[in-house]
Amino acid sequence: MTTFPKDFLWSASTAATQIEGGWNADGKGESIWDTLVHDGTGKIAHGENSDTSIDFYHRWREDVALMKQMGLKAYRFSISWSRVLPEGIGKVNEAGIRFYQDLCDELLKNGIQPLVTLYHWDLPTALYRQGGWKNPASPDWFAEYADVVSRALAGRVRYWLTFNEPQMFCGLGLVAGVHAPFEHNDDVAMMDITKHILLAHGRAVQVLRKNCPGAKVGMAPTGDCCLPKDDSPEEVEKARQKSLSEYPGYIMSNTWWADPVFLGQYPAWAKEKFGDLLYPMTAEEWTLVSQPLDFYAYNCYQGTVDIVPDPSKYDAYAYQGSPQTAAAWNITPKVLYYASKFWFERYHLPILITENGYSGLDCVMLDGKVHDPQRIDFLHRYLREVAHAIADGIPVIGYSVWSLFDNFEWAAGYSCRYGLIYVDYPTQQRIVKDSGWWYRDVIASDGGCL
Ligand code: BG6
Repeated sequence: MTTFPKDFLWSASTAATQIEGGWNADGKGESIWDTLVHDGTGKIAHGENSDTSIDFYHRWREDVALMKQMGLKAYRFSISWSRVLPEGIGKVNEAGIRFYQDLCDELLKNGIQPLVTLYHWDLPTALYRQGGWKNPASPDWFAEYADVVSRALAGRVRYWLTFNEPQMFCGLGLVAGVHAPFEHNDDVAMMDITKHILLAHGRAVQVLRKNCPGAKVGMAPTGDCCLPKDDSPEEVEKARQKSLSEYPGYIMSNTWWADPVFLGQYPAWAKEKFGDLLYPMTAEEWTLVSQPLDFYAYNCYQGTVDIVPDPSKYDAYAYQGSPQTAAAWNITPKVLYYASKFWFERYHLPILITENGYSGLDCVMLDGKVHDPQRIDFLHRYLREVAHAIADGIPVIGYSVWSLFDNFEWAAGYSCRYGLIYVDYPTQQRIVKDSGWWYRDVIASDGGCL
């Protein structure tokens, strides 16, 4: 029998671009995931887009009813910046504001705590046209956006996250060119971009503290970490050191982002690697960037096993025949134990796991149901490792499955499904998968049935 705290945040996650649809409804402006997918700049599998996706923008009431049936204690979603500020700054779209206010009210009425992410990758196109995160004004833009949203949702939202995975929107979007805005920037440009994002985070934290007294504020970096070959202290230490290094490439690494935010300093390896090329910071800027946060959130799907053929490359490949999900990610449950341990021991904050989940090729079976035993097994194994961490004294305060619904999976389009709830895209019918009902039972037993 595993023990989770009574007030544990049992949650599931989504992101605006991936579920909302209504891409130009009621005064919404365009984001880079609208514009650059429509104009062909971005190559999304099968030429798909998120124009309609699962139409959450119009169906949210019935979707909250499903969340209630599943017994969720919390729901993590992101705000679409261009839905509330169509041009990114300036004129506010009241319909957009009302949408998020109504959603929060409905969640609260049903006893579900909203966990809000301000930025899950959908930069307004109007700001992208002014250079996006390269523009030194970008921290001001983000502060304005955070101010509008937090004033509108103050009193409704207690848990806030500034950025989702800077590693990924920078690594995939601004270096590798496979996510919007599909660019390849060099190290010099990435220094400015990094600094602007860090300052934007700091500015948003200031605004949130002012507008939402008592709020719990964090950030959600990815937290994939390296796994030890065995549980011996030597191997665990090796894995920890590698997890804290620039592996798997500086922009994608954990410490490039987390050390400045949580420790107020560059990671030691970065000073050695970049020397004078590193983005300069004044003492005041460090203070802004590293204001105290309330928890350490992280998203995590797989750990890296130390037998990757070329360890200098980030590669999902673990070993011949290793178990994987449909997205070709390794199934490594222990990563939730080790990541929670490594990040807690470095940053000394309560841990909130903001994403973890299984992508499959689910379908509706002859009996009209969606049976997904592999996802259940995946979640079960990973959650046991969360319990293991808690038993070892690591304060994990919540866990959020990626994802509540099948949805638009960025460059992969609709080709794999992560949801606890199946969506038949042509009809928009929702079917709670076996894993969704299983998760309901886990929540109802406070994790006792795991
Ligand atoms: C996380 C993101 O990186 O992984 C989610 O925060 C994303 O938005 C999820 O959907 C799954 O990733 P992918 O690449 O399989 O779509």
